[in-house]
Amino acid sequence: MPIANKTPAPQTICRPLTRSAIFIVATLAPGSEAAAKVRSWCGDIAALTRAVGQRVPEGDLSCVCGFGVNAWDTLFGTPRPAELHPFREFGPAERRALATPGDILLHIRAEQMDLCFELATQLMSALGDAVSVVDEVQGFRYFDMRSIIGFVDGTENPEDNEKVGFTIIGDEDPSFTGGSYVLVQKYLHNMNAWNDLSVEAQERVIGRTKLSDIELDKSVKPISSHSALTTITKDGEEVKILRENMPFGRPGVGEFGTYFIGYARSPQPIEQMLENMFVGRPAGNYDRLLDFSTAVTGGLFFVPSADFLDGLGD
Ligand code: HEM
Repeated sequence: MPIANKTPAPQTICRPLTRSAIFIVATLAPGSEAAAKVRSWCGDIAALTRAVGQRVPEGDLSCVCGFGVNAWDTLFGTPRPAELHPFREFGPAERRALATPGDILLHIRAEQMDLCFELATQLMSALGDAVSVVDEVQGFRYFDMRSIIGFVDGTENPEDNEKVGFTIIGDEDPSFTGGSYVLVQKYLHNMNAWNDLSVEAQERVIGRTKLSDIELDKSVKPISSHSALTTITKDGEEVKILRENMPFGRPGVGEFGTYFIGYARSPQPIEQMLENMFVGRPAGNYDRLLDFSTAVTGGLFFVPSADFLDGLGD
């Protein structure tokens, strides 16, 4: 009997927001030995996640793994996902979405940090010196999904029934059905300058009210507001991305940040949003949130299907 073609299952992208997350970006060590180690490690991610997650079933532990374009070529060769390319930079020098090194992204989420911590420990120990970590951030849920600048973050994310349609690749790239693209940027905020603004002025920067999280009326919402510039349409329909941003920081040393992470079935809408924010729509009408926020990292990664990763196991 012929075996029916199975649609590849995506990684755990479309999950509810958790209380904790760890983001790790690493570069691949040179040489075929490191590449072979990473390939076989890919096949172990699901089993390690299950093993750690089973210790606290209600903890909702999950892990998504993505690969930058250079790592893709080294690790997996051809075919390459149709829209995988180096991170595209946007904006003038004083307000730049810049690209920083990164071959592998891990997005580990759970309701409690100990689960994220344990899985990160297991995954990194299995990788050993096959990679070097270039950035690691531990993010936390801040009250009722507030970003560190005090506004609710995530409200206009796609609804549960729309998430897959906006994030998971279908027939448009048949070799990579079930995959996704993810773009990350680590932002640091100048909280003194931000807190010097009145609440009304902050609301005009974001385009929503601070306490009640309601969109400002068209008559008062500036076209330079963050929510105006990140609202985009194609053929008359709004195009959404799935954001799983997390606050992070070290109050003792005055560090306050947002780890931006956006998933989409093509990098194009996320890049369009970045262009609107950093260059402006029209040019010069840039996102005033950037007067208080500096992007210090930037990376674009492809997230292959879970079946692709499982198939790499020994
Ligand atoms: C500096 C870091 C950032 C912070 C603190 C931040 C915060 C926020 C907040 C508070 C909202 C309003 C509530 C909501 O709908 O979620 C929002 C909306 C949004 N943000 Fe950001 N954001 C950041 C960076 C970005 C980046 C880099 C992108 C895209 C490349 C982006 C895309 C969006 C989108 C698509 C919306 C929804 C717009 C709408 O439909 O009204 N954000 N963000």
